[in-house]
Amino acid sequence: MKLSIIGSGYVGLVTGTCLAEAGHTVLCVDNNQAKVKELQAGHIPIYEPGLEELVRRNVQLKRLSFTASTQEAVANSEVIFIAVPTPPQDDGSVDLSYVEAVAREIAEALPAYRIIVDKSTVPVKTGEKVAETIRRYGPKGIEFDVVSNPEFLREGSAVADLQKPDRIVIGVASQRPVAAMRAVYEPFKAPIIITDLNSAELIKHAANSFLALKITYINLVAAVCEAGGADVTQVAEGMGSDARIGRAFLQAGLGYGGSCFPKDVSAFIRIAEEMGVDFGLMREVEKINAAIPERFLKKIRASLWTMRDKKIGQLGLAFKGNTDDVRCSVAVELIRRMAAEGAIIRCHDPKGGEKAKELLPKNVEIMADAHQVAEGADVLIIATEWPEYRLLDWSKIKTLMRTPRIFDGRNLLNPAEMISLGFEYTSIGR
Ligand code: NAD
Ligand code: UGA
Repeated sequence: MKLSIIGSGYVGLVTGTCLAEAGHTVLCVDNNQAKVKELQAGHIPIYEPGLEELVRRNVQLKRLSFTASTQEAVANSEVIFIAVPTPPQDDGSVDLSYVEAVAREIAEALPAYRIIVDKSTVPVKTGEKVAETIRRYGPKGIEFDVVSNPEFLREGSAVADLQKPDRIVIGVASQRPVAAMRAVYEPFKAPIIITDLNSAELIKHAANSFLALKITYINLVAAVCEAGGADVTQVAEGMGSDARIGRAFLQAGLGYGGSCFPKDVSAFIRIAEEMGVDFGLMREVEKINAAIPERFLKKIRASLWTMRDKKIGQLGLAFKGNTDDVRCSVAVELIRRMAAEGAIIRCHDPKGGEKAKELLPKNVEIMADAHQVAEGADVLIIATEWPEYRLLDWSKIKTLMRTPRIFDGRNLLNPAEMISLGFEYTSIGR
């Protein structure tokens, strides 16, 4: 099938590439001309495991191409996906101006029947608005369908998540686009759930909010474990082995960050409020999550006595492991707060250094080698769950530090091993 994706970011580029890999012909659009040029020249602007190779192969096979023209995409595709940003506004509600702008652009370019699929995360009833906009700005008499197809990929495992999804949700207002949407996803051999438009949109916000709630729950349990002399990893294992609970998303740490959970939780609270439902439960989740960095810093301050002029090494800048994305990263937030207190900071991230640069205070050094952050350090922090940090030469790190103290915000290392190497080792809920 001929498909196009408007917006070639973390979601659009990976979705477009995986749809091309599945055999479709895909045109990825972006209004950032520099990004399109970069993609056309074979450079991938984001780090996502496995993506580069797939892009290269599908470009070579002429199944994947890039353009800055939405008009070209609309003219040449049966199905047009929208994957543009839906950032938060100051009051927590969603800025839908990117989606609205694309709806208008599609409308103005509509040559014949098309299926317009919203993949951006949007509030319930956005699909109805998109349809209304296309009717208003589009040519009279040309039919179209608007479909909601929320995306559930995680950064860092986006290619695998897309190629082997737990389910594909397709929300429709009529039966007409269903067969084509099934054909788009047929190669993935995944369960397809057909819903109405509003329910599909709500599934996405409800799912992200529930996952944020689950993480927050285990972070609170971790605080109780610390006070009660228990180990949150063992508690999570015991709880999570109940099939009704599940082990996933019970990793205690520095709280949830990233470009999605924080904004989607506030959006869901706002949407519910606008409809007369007080979602105080999720407001509490936001409050608890926001307090986690300070709780962690308190432990570090208690050990350092004062922060000023202390040398701090931090491993991790990305909001989670296996990505270069530093949007709403707790790791970046920690550095900002410690720098404001006068600490001298060196940090490292396998992929996120470049993107973090503009978010960090000028005097913070980003090192090329993880071991360098330990040189002369009073404290070493693990702020992002990069698996490769487990494999560092921890004996060498011990000798490089001025005082061998580790604060592991992601429970990445084995406490007994670290203590036997001679570190003072503090983690979360263990
Ligand atoms: P992103 O910022 O990485 O990418 C969005 C892209 O859209 C950018 O490249 C931008 O230049 C482009 N764009 C903006 N306006 C455009 C226009 N008018 N025409 C063409 N291109 C335009 O964002 P993202 O992380 O890919 O998120 C996109 C949507 O998907 C959001 O609603 C987000 O909530 C949702 N989502 C994200 C993830 C994730 O893990 N990042 C997962 C699921 C859902
Ligand atoms: C999340 C969801 O998992 C995806 O299903 C969804 O599509 C996406 O948001 C979205 O809508 O954008 P993502 O933010 O990429 O994906 O990454 P997650 O793996 O969910 O991690 C989010 C945050 O929670 C990270 O800061 C991570 O460190 C933290 N986390 C995650 C924990 O602290 N503990 C856990 O057990 C899991």
